[in-house]
Amino acid sequence: MDFQFTEEQLMIQDVARRIAQEKIAPSAEHFDQTGEFPLDNIRLLGENGLMGIEVPTEYGGAGMDPVSYVLAMIEIAEADCAHSTIVSVNNSLFCNGLLKFGTEAQKQKYVRAIAEGKEIGAFALTEPQSGSDATAMRCKAVKQADGSYVINGKKSWITSGPVAKYIILFAMTDPSKGAKGITAFMIDTAKDGFHRGKTEPKLGIRASATCEIEFTDYVATPDEVVGTEGEGFKIAMGVLDAGRIGIASQAVGLARAAYKAAVEYSRERKSFGQAIGSFQMIQAKIADMKCRLDAAELLTLRAAWTKAQTEKHGGRFSTEASVAKLTASEAAMFITHAALQIHGGMGYSKEMPLERYFRDAKITEIYEGTSEIQRMVIARNETGLR
Ligand code: CAA
Repeated sequence: MDFQFTEEQLMIQDVARRIAQEKIAPSAEHFDQTGEFPLDNIRLLGENGLMGIEVPTEYGGAGMDPVSYVLAMIEIAEADCAHSTIVSVNNSLFCNGLLKFGTEAQKQKYVRAIAEGKEIGAFALTEPQSGSDATAMRCKAVKQADGSYVINGKKSWITSGPVAKYIILFAMTDPSKGAKGITAFMIDTAKDGFHRGKTEPKLGIRASATCEIEFTDYVATPDEVVGTEGEGFKIAMGVLDAGRIGIASQAVGLARAAYKAAVEYSRERKSFGQAIGSFQMIQAKIADMKCRLDAAELLTLRAAWTKAQTEKHGGRFSTEASVAKLTASEAAMFITHAALQIHGGMGYSKEMPLERYFRDAKITEIYEGTSEIQRMVIARNETGLR
């Protein structure tokens, strides 16, 4: 693993930092309070290659590597966690999924608009009764004599669901086969039979729109199957490995914002005649925050580097992705909690962003696989036991 970033990696980091600091950070509070979708900022990120960072230029992306993706995501999340959720799902779940498993025709047809940020992509796996236990899904796709599929069912917690143009959907094509009976489909939300349901009122990442979606006799043609019939669960798991690197980067960016605020405040705020940063109890907090932040960042970069190696030589990066996501999301919870505590009453006030950081951090321990699921994946891979 190279600790020196390339010129290209530093360049995309710089582009992301500039947009994040000039446009996203100043508007983060507004979008958190109103829950509006930050469409103009997303379009701007798209115009600068940040909605399809790893997408080859021939499909409208920036053609960069996984380390570049992590560096850009950290900058965006440092400015606002909710924006980085939209960027992450678009990049790692939608674009990455289609690039890895889609046909050439599907890549040509669906990737460009999403990678350019002109349209938004989403990923639909979770259902009201199946979250961690993804194979317990009930959404069904029944094959017809002409080779098309009729889809019926409900999906929940769909990030960017209210605004998505295209969605990668996972549906059961043969319930008797369990995980091997799941198939992935490309959904065009403009087609008949697709409906958006209730929008979720959330604790944090409020500018990232989330809703239920429903299918009633939605017809998917054979060329809208992603991968092959029955391959859907493996596609979902493979795509989530990449997604987990995105969420780890998001957690690092958010944790970094809270950490910087805490260090600055500990220098400025006086108590008992001294800067509070000179008290040992605050120093201990700052040292623990710094260790967890650096560990999270390094493990996230290692996961991205490992992903890049598997793209060249084959293999999987599931363990590295889960280690990064688990470590970074727990670091984000710890660091935002400690940063709020260091700010005391000001941390609890909406006049400062600390309470938003704290609310936003919680989701990183839940979506794209809870911390419990990450521990399960890591332990299974390490022991070979189930
Ligand atoms: N890559 C490729 N294949 C994989 C894989 C991976 N990472 N992980 C598992 N598989 C394969 C297995 O090899 C196995 O195939 P074989 O039978 O041929 O060997 C098959 O998939 C089934 O695997 P398991 O038996 O391990 O499956 P399981 O039912 O025990 O489930 C699990 C494993 C880890 C619990 C999995 O269900 C899981 O990750 N659950 C969490 C789901 C999740 O993360 N949901 C997030 C929702 S999406 C979201 O949040 C997005 C958003 O909008 C922000």
